[in-house]
Amino acid sequence: MAEETTPLKVALLGAGVVGSQVARILSSEAEELRQRIGRPLELVGVAVRRDDIERPGIDPALFTTDAHALVTRGDLDLVIEVIGGIEPARSLLVAAMESGASIITANKALLAEQFAELSATARANAVDLYYEAAVAGAIPIIRPLRESLVGDTIRVVMGIVNGTTNYILDQMTTNRLSFDVALKQAQDLGFAEADPSADIEGHDAAAKAAILASLAFHTSVRRSEVFCEGITQVTEADIEAADAMGCVIKLLAVAKLNDDRIVVKVHPAMVPKTHPLAAVSGAFNAIFVESVEAGQLMFLGQGAGGAPTASAVMGDVVTVARNRARGTASFLSTGYTKREVAPIGEATSRYYIRFQVEDKPGVLAKCATIFGRHEVSLQTCQQSYLEGLGRTDGLTARLNLMTHEARENALQDVVAELREASFIGETIDYMRIEGK
Ligand SMILES: NC(=O)c1ccc[n+]([C@@H]2O[C@H](COP(=O)([O-])OP(=O)(O)OC[C@H]3O[C@@H](n4cnc5c(N)ncnc54)[C@H](OP(=O)(O)O)[C@@H]3O)[C@@H](O)[C@H]2O)c1
Repeated sequence: MAEETTPLKVALLGAGVVGSQVARILSSEAEELRQRIGRPLELVGVAVRRDDIERPGIDPALFTTDAHALVTRGDLDLVIEVIGGIEPARSLLVAAMESGASIITANKALLAEQFAELSATARANAVDLYYEAAVAGAIPIIRPLRESLVGDTIRVVMGIVNGTTNYILDQMTTNRLSFDVALKQAQDLGFAEADPSADIEGHDAAAKAAILASLAFHTSVRRSEVFCEGITQVTEADIEAADAMGCVIKLLAVAKLNDDRIVVKVHPAMVPKTHPLAAVSGAFNAIFVESVEAGQLMFLGQGAGGAPTASAVMGDVVTVARNRARGTASFLSTGYTKREVAPIGEATSRYYIRFQVEDKPGVLAKCATIFGRHEVSLQTCQQSYLEGLGRTDGLTARLNLMTHEARENALQDVVAELREASFIGETIDYMRIEGK
């Protein structure tokens, strides 16, 4: 059969950090891409916000500031959205799909809010919606969940999906820097934005957690349903305590089955040093998946950056273009289970907890009784002494405890009762432990 030479028409929305790299690859790898797809790709327009900027490597004639006119011109095969944010990205993608184009997007913020709606629009218009770059940059994790593991049952997806916070926590751990110093260093090196709140408060990771949970559990999870705690409260004392307990602290996005429901959460957690996620250093991302049949899997790589993210976008471009060349679109089964997201109080994990106590006979037993009363079982207990500090409050011992798996509500009840106890200091620090 003769090769089809009619190009597939591609529009690019955005030519920033990621878009400029996508444009570069579309141009420099045009011949390779033609061979891999079986048809050439033709970039027919690039939508940007400002038209007074020089953008080397892209034909100036392709630029437009009218993105809506571009996506509704009616002859597009593929629209690549790398603008970011909710609007106008959402309206542009809907208009593009309704005009018959398949979509590739890197937009985690939008997918975390509108996943079900965008999937429904794609289905209704028999077009593709691909978004590998939306979670963990270059790391293939969407396709493994959507395709490779779709015949299996996922139990847990747990990942380091924000490079900025991993860099900061890694510096706090390896160089014993304070949070503020590590953040400043991350900003100086370009790993953190001038306004780092989306990263350090966990919002970026929470958007990715919503997408991962939706895919892994065939349901619809919105960003607003994800429990989210950032890393701003992590102290040097926490880092040291984790080390002493054989753990490191990581900001984790966790999605796991909890009976009929699912738990979806982002928070700093102690991770045992023996767990594969503990070794993920610097600004790297990694995602750990546990499924019934495959067992444990780990995906590791660069979670951001123009070229790494463009790699993920281009993987989707080739897949979608191949579908398009055959006149087909992938079947999406996402969303059929309608699983509820359990409130954080129902979530279970192990916990680390530390506080100061009076160094007197019977105190340890009284502490253990409080844990027992709320059915929180203790796994390990370390006691250290704070002698020679001239203390007058008698709180000269410190307890470092690890619990077995317990419900969050029960742990909160334990903490509340410990706070009332006369033989315990006011400060009670605790942290969830994830991974074995
Ligand atoms: N950067 C990463 O490492 C990374 C990693 C994974 C995923 N992502 C995702 O990729 C997407 C793009 O990120 P980015 O870092 O490339 O962003 P960026 O550098 O800020 O680029 C955004 C681009 O969109 C254009 N744009 C903004 N509003 C527009 C509008 N209303 N109409 C037309 N064009 C508009 C901008 O035009 P001007 O150039 O004229 O301002 C710019 O070219 C986001 O969804 C982000 O979450 C990024």
